Amino acid sequence: MSASIRPACAADLDAVLEIEAAWPTTPHWPRRQFEAELSELGLKRSVFLVAEDDLAVAGYAAAWLVQDEVQILSIAVHGGMARRGVGRLLLDAVLEAAKAAGCRRATLDVSERNAPARGLYESSGFAAVGRRPGYYDDGSDALLMDKPLT
Ligand SMILES: CC(C)(COP(=O)(O)OP(=O)(O)OC[C@H]1O[C@@H](n2cnc3c(N)ncnc32)[C@H](O)[C@@H]1OP(=O)(O)O)[C@@H](O)C(=O)NCCC(=O)NCCS
Repeated sequence: MSASIRPACAADLDAVLEIEAAWPTTPHWPRRQFEAELSELGLKRSVFLVAEDDLAVAGYAAAWLVQDEVQILSIAVHGGMARRGVGRLLLDAVLEAAKAAGCRRATLDVSERNAPARGLYESSGFAAVGRRPGYYDDGSDALLMDKPLT
C-alpha cells in the first residue's frame, strides 16, 4: 500500500465529504462539522487525518481527544480503495497521535452489523465493553468498544 497519512486541510474537505456521503454507515457530518475540526479550537482537541494515494484523498479519520481518552468518531475509505490497508493505516495513525498527546485509551461506537469496521477494530485490539440497543437508524445495536493504549 503506497498511501501516506497526513493531517487534513481545508482543500481536502470536498473529497472527505464525498467519501463520507458514499457510505450509509458513517455519521454524515455536515461540512461545518469538518470545518470545525480544522478551526483553532478543533485542532487542539481533534485528530483529523487523511490518507493520500497518487495525490488523491483515499480516506479520512476524525477523532476527539477528551482528557486521557481518544474517541474515534468517523473513519472511511474511498469505495474503490477498500480492503487495501488504508483503513488500518488511518486507525494506526490516529492511535499513535493520541498516544503522543497522552491518551491512555481509545473508544468508539460501531454498529453490530458493520462487519468491515468491526473487523478493523477487533483486529486492532478493540474489545466490546457495552451495547446501546437500537441505536442506529436501521435498528441495529451500537457496540461500545475500548482499547487500552500502552
Ligand atoms: C471500515 C473501513 C474504514 C475499513 O477500511 P479498509 O481500508 O477497507 O480496511 P483495511 O484494508 O485496512 O482492512 C483492515 C481490516 O479490517 C477488516 N475488514 C476490512 N474490510 C472488511 C470486510 N469487507 N469484511 C470483513 N472485515 C473487513 C479486516 O480485519 C481487515 O484486515 P485484513 O485485511 O488483514 O483481514 C471501510 O470498510 C469503510 O470505509 N467502511 C465504510 C465507513 C464505515 O463504516 N466506517 C466506520 C464507521 S464511521
